[in-house]
Amino acid sequence: MRTPIIAGNWKLNKTISEAVESVAALRTLVADVNEVEIVVAPTFTALFAVAQVLENGNIRLSAQDVFWEDRGAFTGEVSPAMLKDAGCDYVIIGHSERRQYFSETNESVNRKAKAAHAHGLKPIICVGEQLEDREAGRTEAVIRDHVINGIAELSADQILSTVIAYEPVWAIGTGKTATADEAQEVHTFIRSLLAETYSDEVASQVRIQYGGSVKPDNAAELMAQPDVDGALVGGASLEAESFAQIVKAACR
Ligand code: 13P
Repeated sequence: MRTPIIAGNWKLNKTISEAVESVAALRTLVADVNEVEIVVAPTFTALFAVAQVLENGNIRLSAQDVFWEDRGAFTGEVSPAMLKDAGCDYVIIGHSERRQYFSETNESVNRKAKAAHAHGLKPIICVGEQLEDREAGRTEAVIRDHVINGIAELSADQILSTVIAYEPVWAIGTGKTATADEAQEVHTFIRSLLAETYSDEVASQVRIQYGGSVKPDNAAELMAQPDVDGALVGGASLEAESFAQIVKAACR
């Protein structure tokens, strides 16, 4: 079955020393967890130092974004190979904040996802509707657009090592979580899109995380849903203690 995956997206937070201190504490707190995959996503500048602290442990490293080219005149960008070199196994792609503030599109998400796979980095592709989409009954149309275009041309093998993160934009950083039923409904829909694109067999193996105001006190209920395979956690991942509690809520 699918191994739950709990990832902490630190966004624009923590200096190198703060990041190192936080993962060192987390490493101790989750040392005995082996049934859940644990991932942290610090800022680019802290990746290498955090990788040193995580060596030979049970916590994987992720970046928060990547560019699709390997090298060249692309000022300010970071390539998949550079992220691998810094110690990353995962990369978050298409987060709603990047779509909103940095002109990320489904097309750029797809290019990044393909480039990540080409270098053995596993993408965590974020999808999610805005409040006005939900209120206008457009949730499924937006999710379909994000998923189908985001994963275009990925092979079945590549989709098996891709994680989809469903993050309703209205639930991010607002303290307003989707109910467990609302999350399950969209996760089922995402799995049906994967079945339509690949097969039932493949769709049943892809992990779909929920993200948006996940906290220690609501994580277990969300994770108890049959199609919720983990969480992408923002605010509550900044404290090692609360993130560890969310990890433990995912241990069945
Ligand atoms: P919060 O957990 O702070 O709502 O953030 C969710 C998120 O955007 C994770 O990527």
